[in-house]
Amino acid sequence: MATIYLNGQYLPESAALISPLDRGFTYGDGVYEVIRAFNGKPFLLGEHFGRLADSCAKMRIGAYLSPLEEVPARLLKENGLTGDALIYLQVTRGTAPRSHVFPPPETHPTVFGLAWAFTPNPAWKEGMVTILEPDIRWSRCDIKVTSLIPNSFSAQRAKELGAHEGLFVRDGVVQEATLSNFFAVFGGEVHTAPLSNYILPGITRAVVLDLCREHGIPCRETPVFATELDKADEAFLTSTVYDVAPIKAVEGRPLPKDHPITDRIIELFREVIQRECR
Ligand code: PDD
Repeated sequence: MATIYLNGQYLPESAALISPLDRGFTYGDGVYEVIRAFNGKPFLLGEHFGRLADSCAKMRIGAYLSPLEEVPARLLKENGLTGDALIYLQVTRGTAPRSHVFPPPETHPTVFGLAWAFTPNPAWKEGMVTILEPDIRWSRCDIKVTSLIPNSFSAQRAKELGAHEGLFVRDGVVQEATLSNFFAVFGGEVHTAPLSNYILPGITRAVVLDLCREHGIPCRETPVFATELDKADEAFLTSTVYDVAPIKAVEGRPLPKDHPITDRIIELFREVIQRECR
């Protein structure tokens, strides 16, 4: 049975209990991170904790995060995970009588962590099949909140249509996908939506933009309109779960089979993984 982390303790999953009055359960009132591990080592840990701190601050959840930084490595060890793995960390506003207003400030946030072995879907490497979805999410998509109903709806619809991902379109702009950021290449230049309240500041996205700048691959944070997608030479998704994955079709329309810029970025991203988690 998996060993999980709950409020300072490492416990067998079946012994880890929380109250049904936890705000995460009643209001979806929490934030989370998904962290990747390679060779049993957490990848880009500082960046994930930086974003978790940002999410907590924006949500006014007063969690003390520094002691949690050892949790991902400890969960990997406790569960004997020495290869590719994922770690999930969740912080909710804690347990309190149900009320729309925030609970008293002395309420302790609930912190939960879990790790499991991960094998990426081989189909992702060959190319993601995507659909376009109206972006019905709230206007604070920059916060990594646990309330993921629209994302879940779109992921399910994509699955039912035989696709891998749903691309969220708001005001004509492809903002991001249900669990990844979106990039398109036009005439050799990589484009992705600028940071705003409509997208998650993806950690993989930031690494990819840095890699482009460092290696002379032209890139621009600029809106990509859904109507321009038929002119894209390449498109790809970035996420902790996918790394960098080429897109092979959008809404039934295939993209060119060759994607040299995406391939170069995949290679550069692999080098970062090797360097960080050898
Ligand atoms: N999701 N956009 C959304 C809406 C996401 O949920 C995610 C990640 C990303 C990519 O961010 P990053 O590169 O930091 O993983 C973009 C995680 C993997 C999840 O919800 O499972």
